[in-house]
Formats: sequence, C-alpha cells, structure tokens
Amino acid sequence: MVERKTLLVTGGCGFIGSNFIHYILTHYPTYRIINLDKLTYCGNLDNLCEVAHQPNLIFVKGDIADREKVKGILHDERIDCIVNFAAESHVDRSIEDPDLFLRTNILGTQVLLEGAREAAVPLFIQISTDEVYGSLGSTGAFTEATPLKPNSPYAASKTAADLLVRAYIKTYGIAAIITRCSNNYGPYQFPEKLLPLMISNAMEDRELPVYGDGLNVRDWIYVEDHCRALDTVLHHGNGGEIYNIGGASERTNIEVVRTILEVLGKPESLIRFVMDRPGHDRRYAMDFSKLNKKLDWKPKMTFEEGIKRTISWYIDHQEWWQRIKTGEYLKYYERMYGNR
Ligand code: NAD
Ligand code: DAU
Repeated sequence: MVERKTLLVTGGCGFIGSNFIHYILTHYPTYRIINLDKLTYCGNLDNLCEVAHQPNLIFVKGDIADREKVKGILHDERIDCIVNFAAESHVDRSIEDPDLFLRTNILGTQVLLEGAREAAVPLFIQISTDEVYGSLGSTGAFTEATPLKPNSPYAASKTAADLLVRAYIKTYGIAAIITRCSNNYGPYQFPEKLLPLMISNAMEDRELPVYGDGLNVRDWIYVEDHCRALDTVLHHGNGGEIYNIGGASERTNIEVVRTILEVLGKPESLIRFVMDRPGHDRRYAMDFSKLNKKLDWKPKMTFEEGIKRTISWYIDHQEWWQRIKTGEYLKYYERMYGNR
C-alpha cells in the first residue's frame, strides 16, 4: 500500500524549510504538506514557485505563536508529524533586537507543542542547531551529551525551545525528536548569511566583510544532506531522542571566502576585515556518530563540490537575490555594516 502522510511544516518559505518541501515532494509524491509560514523578511513564496501549483502542498500564512491559528489547523487536519523550522534565525539580528527571537523561537515552539499534545500528533520534530552547545576550542566535537551553553540571544532562544520540547516529552509523554544541525548552505539561503552574502557581494564587486580575524570555524553541510537526515529521522527516528547532524567539513571563514573568490575569479582585494561579532563563537564541530551508527546516515556532498553548485545556483538565480537586496535589506545592510 502507498504510504500517505500529512506533514505540518512550519517556516517552509525559508531556506531549509523550502529545500525540505522540495525534497519531500520529490521523494514522497503521495505526501501532503501544510506549510505554515508568517512570511517574515526571510520568508519568500518565490522559494516554492516551482511546486506551488501542486494540490498536495497547501500554504497557510500565519504565526506559530498564534494559538487559535495552530489549533485550527490541527483540528481541521489529521497531521502525522509537525516539523518545526519556523524561527528567527540570524545571530546578528538577535544581537540587535532579541525580543522577536524569544516570541517566535520559544513561545512559538511552546504553542506548537501544546497543539501537538491536545491533538495527539504522533510525532514532533524540532529543528534545532549546534549553537545550543556554545563554542569549542581547537579540538573536539559536540556530542548529544555536551552541556548546553548558548552564547547569543538566538542560541539561547533555540536552547529554551529544546528544553520545552524535553519538558513536553517528560511531562506529557509526547513523541518528539530534536535534531541539531551545523551550518547549512545551498539554494534559497537569504543573503544576510555568510555564503550568500559573500557570493552575491563578490558578483556585484562589493566588499566582503569578514568579522574579526576570519579564523572562526564552522562545519558546513549542504542543505540537501540535512534534508536527507531529516527524512531518515522522520521515518526511522525514535521519539525522545536527540540527533546531531553535521557536514564533516570544517572551514575557517576566511578559507570559505577565499574559495568563493577563486571560483568566481574575483580578486582578494574585495575582502575587508571588520569589527567582530560580540560573543562570536570560535568553533563548531559536530559528532554525528549516533545518527550514523543507529540510522545509517552520513553527509554525501563534499564542500568543494557543494560550494561550486551553490555558486552556480546564485549565478543562475540573480533575479531571486537581487529582488531581496532592495528596500528593507539595504537599510539592514547599512545598520549592520555601515560604520563597522
Ligand atoms: P530562515 O530564516 O531562512 O527561515 C525561517 C522561516 O520561518 C521563514 O520562512 C519565516 O517567514 C518563517 N517564520 C519566522 N517566524 C515565524 C513565525 N512566528 N511563524 C511562522 N513562520 C515564521 O531560517 P533557516 O536558515 O531556513 O532555518 C530554519 C530552521 O533551522 C531554524 O529553526 C533554524 O534555527 C534552524 N537551523 C538553521 C541552520 C542554518 O544553517 N541555517 C542550521 C541549524 C539549524
Ligand atoms: O550553526 C548553525 C547556525 O548557523 C544556525 O543555527 C543559524 O540559524 C545560522 O544563521 C548559522 O549561524 P552562524 O552565525 O554560524 O552563521 P552566519 O552565516 O551568520 O555566520 C557564519 C560565520 O561567518 C560566523 O563565524 C560569522 C561570520 N560572518 C558572518 C557574516 C554574516 C562574517 O565574517 N561576516 C558576515 O558578514
């Protein structure tokens, strides 16, 4: 028998959420997806224009912190799993103005958990981040047992959400899974994050603002590998578990920026070292051996291949990011980088 599931995907108009929707519609064409998204500055219906016509993809504009809206969806639909991507996701914006991060990332998650409890939704997947673990020295990697030590308002809000998920598992017995992934890159990433910012700036021959000494390390994962990990967890993961997801591709920021310039054939003179991010985490690295050993997942994309594909995508989709880099975005850019 063909399996049919109905997923409530929140934040499906953002970077990872839209990639996940594309992935699920490709690999599970019989599934239905309800996409609940508030369409913040980062939410973009263009990210789903190729699949928007499909009858099994339903878009609902709304806020995950809106109890009535969430209750209504869970009352009207028999949801098999909630996959919660919706969040304020940019660390620099959380330093500028933390309030919205608390409302969406913490309260919003609690509203969804409460809805899941009331409607007895069989599975809840919370999309969390390696940033909940804080920062590493030059060696070692985060495991699922690493103590939580978030350093930015964004990371603190994601940690609080993880703890609420834990509390709902322990107190109410809901079946929930937390996934913690490292830095994603790939198509449809909003050009405030390192890779799309640097790629699009380089294409426009603008300066590339590198924070501090450029030696902070991130573990880069191609977004499709993340989606495949979530597919694995959705179909084979165990309720109550936490799974780390990583790319096994540690790079310093300056290495990443130099690679982008090399692939685009642009000069290193575009690099400008600017004032560091306050509380800037030095290094992230993920030990994802649990997901590898228990559920046989590992990343497939090398960084060298993934970055070339990503750059090609931004070359082929200039209209997509040029439309974003106007109006409100330009004001943000001036606030963030003008006097840095
Ligand atoms: P994004 O900012 O690109 O997208 C977030 C989406 O959520 C947008 O479509 C936005 O409109 C929507 N949204 C925001 N507030 C909402 C609300 N109150 N109600 C409904 N929708 C709302 O983010 P992303 O980079 O795709 O990240 C998705 C999730 O993955 C986040 O939870 C983030 O913490 C987590 N994560 C991201 C990364 C990464 O490298 N980008 C890594 C690990 C984990
Ligand atoms: O690790 C997972 C996290 O990765 C996710 O939880 C977050 O949602 C996501 O935004 C990302 O957070 P980072 O802070 O690591 O990503 P960002 O792209 O903002 O920055 C990556 C690195 O590049 C970081 O060390 C800061 C640096 N940087 C960033 C920008 C925007 C610069 O040097 N210059 C810049 O202009």
